[in-house]
Amino acid sequence: MNKAVESKHINFSNQVVEKRIEQLLENMSLAQKIGQMTQAERLFCSPEQARKFHIGSILSGGGSCPGDNQLADWVQMADEYWHASTSKDERHLGIPIIYGVDAIHGNNNVLGATVFPHNIGLGAARNPELMQKLASATAREVLAAGVDWTFAPTLAVAQSNRWGRMYESYSQDPVLVANYAAPFVDGLQSSYDDDGVISCVKHWVGDGGTTKGIDQGETTLSYQDLERVHMLPYYPALEAGAMTVMVSFNSWNGDKCHGHRFLLQQELKGRLAFSGFVVSDFDGIDYLSQDYYEAVALGVNAGIDMFMVPEEWQRFIEYLTQHVEIGSVSMSRIDDAVRRILRVKAASGLLDQVKPSARAWSNHSSFGGEKHRQLAKNAVAQSLVLLKNDNSILPIKKQNRVLVCGKNADNIGHQCGGFTIAWQGVSGNEDIAGGTSILNGLVGFHEQVTYVEQDRVEQIEPNDFDVAVAVIGETPYAEGLGDIRTNENDIVEAGSQIRGLMKVLEPYGTSTKLSELHPEDLRLLRSLSDKNIPIVAVLISGRPLQIDLELDLTDAFVAAWLPGSEGQGVAEVLLGKLDFVGKLPFDWPRDSAENSERGLNARFPIGYGLNYR
Ligand code: BGC
Repeated sequence: MNKAVESKHINFSNQVVEKRIEQLLENMSLAQKIGQMTQAERLFCSPEQARKFHIGSILSGGGSCPGDNQLADWVQMADEYWHASTSKDERHLGIPIIYGVDAIHGNNNVLGATVFPHNIGLGAARNPELMQKLASATAREVLAAGVDWTFAPTLAVAQSNRWGRMYESYSQDPVLVANYAAPFVDGLQSSYDDDGVISCVKHWVGDGGTTKGIDQGETTLSYQDLERVHMLPYYPALEAGAMTVMVSFNSWNGDKCHGHRFLLQQELKGRLAFSGFVVSDFDGIDYLSQDYYEAVALGVNAGIDMFMVPEEWQRFIEYLTQHVEIGSVSMSRIDDAVRRILRVKAASGLLDQVKPSARAWSNHSSFGGEKHRQLAKNAVAQSLVLLKNDNSILPIKKQNRVLVCGKNADNIGHQCGGFTIAWQGVSGNEDIAGGTSILNGLVGFHEQVTYVEQDRVEQIEPNDFDVAVAVIGETPYAEGLGDIRTNENDIVEAGSQIRGLMKVLEPYGTSTKLSELHPEDLRLLRSLSDKNIPIVAVLISGRPLQIDLELDLTDAFVAAWLPGSEGQGVAEVLLGKLDFVGKLPFDWPRDSAENSERGLNARFPIGYGLNYR
């Protein structure tokens, strides 16, 4: 096999750490060891249960929030699990749990957090230093909630705009993704202890390469291509000391990554000498076999160390115990997994931490504060890509009377996209505390702005306006629910290549053409165009969509991706306070492109982006 890349990554373990691990391990019963390997979801495992079963980790799945989802609710919950896990007696060693969340664009679950642009927009910004800053601000907002660990960054190299997770990918170009990996991991982890959170690079490996972009589907590639495209970004991430890696739902050449000894043991832990721990994805082992008992052994023996078994954690513990007792899982595999988990807990400083509410950044006023929002606003401005600007309609002039319309103009929820407050995101401004819609951003900087609801645009008087800003595009989605399946047989074709089971979700749509996905946008642009008002379209979307019809009707067109909570960033660029710097991180297909895949015949190629100069 290819030995092209030997590991150079920082070994975060050292003699002191290793000695501590061995001491702990010597004193652990099988129940305590298996408990460490178990990660339950907060809704299904109380602090008392976490203690009783010596649980190693608790997570909040997307949108799973304590109390009223205020920062203080999170810190209180973190304290409860911490106290339960650390209180010692003769049958409980008192190893602190590690609490994990998906803080993938800021600490996006928590009310009042700064929500940064999703990765696709950051890819357009082409700015690795910015990644470091965003990651470190994210770490602080995560620490503010008393949380230790974020399942980020996603290092997927997305190859299809039909994939519902394309927005979690920085680029189709593995080099661009790789250039972001180390600064992001570094920014998150900092020097651990008080300033950093533990990072989890995901999803190992090939998540972005599935046939027809089907989420959790099949990636059919030679080893050389898998390595060159999908493994590449992991090298700098591991060199930067990423402490945990999440396994991917997808299969590679028919075999699920969750059961893949070669990918987990030989490649990741062997060739890449990864010494942290491997965590499975949400119920990820369920798809290895219809028989859960068998699935547990397949996952452990493939090399997974910690199991994200949100609801099934008790059954997992029971089955794994039986496997060890009869020898179908060896004690040395269990010890290897536990060593890795303890290594991360020791090296990150977690073993010696005080309770979450007593930590330096806990409940900190920087959470959702002005400094982080400024940073987010700058990131938004850098992420915008100008696709068209006829007659220099942009920037909007001081004397212009501006009509603002479109379903995404005054909707912070839509701006933020999936993985914001709820797993699938939210709609409207009410569920997000703080932040500015694009409309309010424009109102804040420009005197003559009038907002008109979509269904009233027909009635406006064209002479009242010099330019219209139409904020159009997608509504929020996450994971498989964002997939676009253009053919009824897509899932059958892709699924038939997989050995194992597949979770099939309703897709977001059946076409990658904006005019078919969201015909209301085309209607809006047509009515503006019929009135001869020059149009600036701002597209909110988690991916490039085919927009030839819409482009023809507009004078300027801006790809704004999923900018997050700070809509002023969009306003400042439209008004010319800042110039466009963003460049497409993906090829943008033309309407006639077969299957809408990227390629030579792109409407705009990767790297494209206009500016005002
Ligand atoms: C996703 C992961 C995520 C996990 C925990 C899964 O559905 O695939 O990316 O980290 O849930 O919420």
